[in-house]
Amino acid sequence: MNLVFLGPPGSGKGTQAKVIAEQIGVLHLSTGDVLRDSVKKGTELGKKAQKYMEAGELVPDDLIVGMIEEKLASGELDNGYILDGFPRTVPQAEALRDMLKRNDSAIDKAILIDVSDEEVIKRLSGRFFCPTCNAGYNYPAKMPKQEGICDNDGTKLQRRPDDEEDVVRNRLEVYQRQTAPIIDFYQKASLLHKVAGEGSLQEITARLLKVIKEN
Ligand code: AP5
Repeated sequence: MNLVFLGPPGSGKGTQAKVIAEQIGVLHLSTGDVLRDSVKKGTELGKKAQKYMEAGELVPDDLIVGMIEEKLASGELDNGYILDGFPRTVPQAEALRDMLKRNDSAIDKAILIDVSDEEVIKRLSGRFFCPTCNAGYNYPAKMPKQEGICDNDGTKLQRRPDDEEDVVRNRLEVYQRQTAPIIDFYQKASLLHKVAGEGSLQEITARLLKVIKEN
């Protein structure tokens, strides 16, 4: 099963993709996670991507498409996947379609997780993570036992630099301008499914699994 999860920043793509990939036995590939890891390690890709990410802008298409091409060539995606955060522009969606076609493959479903801007701002202003083990927390939805400290290893929790409110507002604008047009792209290809993204984590997982499993 080859899936694309679409939706604005903070819509729950990463949270849900992680749980569902495990349940249906496919790989979860988040371009945001790969880029953050590259920034942390100071790789060439990370150095090129950092300034765009911190401003809430998209990293140039050629860098991202090159990264996905490498993943496809490595065979990591051979047993199915959920793409989270890619594609994010129409040229990226076209490049993905063409790359897959060359390998006699295709996307099965593109699922849009629909969430309001107010909910996005609320979720992202409450998001914290552990820089040591990467565990995610959210105030007040998923609090650590001791405020500001990771339950697993006692590390001080941090916020993503792009979760500051002014950057989140820019990310929402970028989403509307550059990413929302791919909804139409997948609609025209008869691959689009829409899921309401507000409610408990379990409710949204159940909605997504229903869409994934139906013919
Ligand atoms: P990326 O990491 O992909 O950021 P994003 O899409 O903005 O995604 P987020 O991680 O903020 O949101 P999400 O939808 O995954 O939500 P999550 O599950 O985390 O990209 C970061 C940057 O990298 C981009 O701005 C860009 O610069 C660059 N980039 C990445 N891919 C690119 C590409 N293809 N092209 C160009 N540039 C690219 O949830 C958010 C929070 O809400 C969490 O705290 C979670 O616990 C909480 N939450 C989730 N669900 C619920 C719920 N139901 N109720 C309450 N809280 C919830």
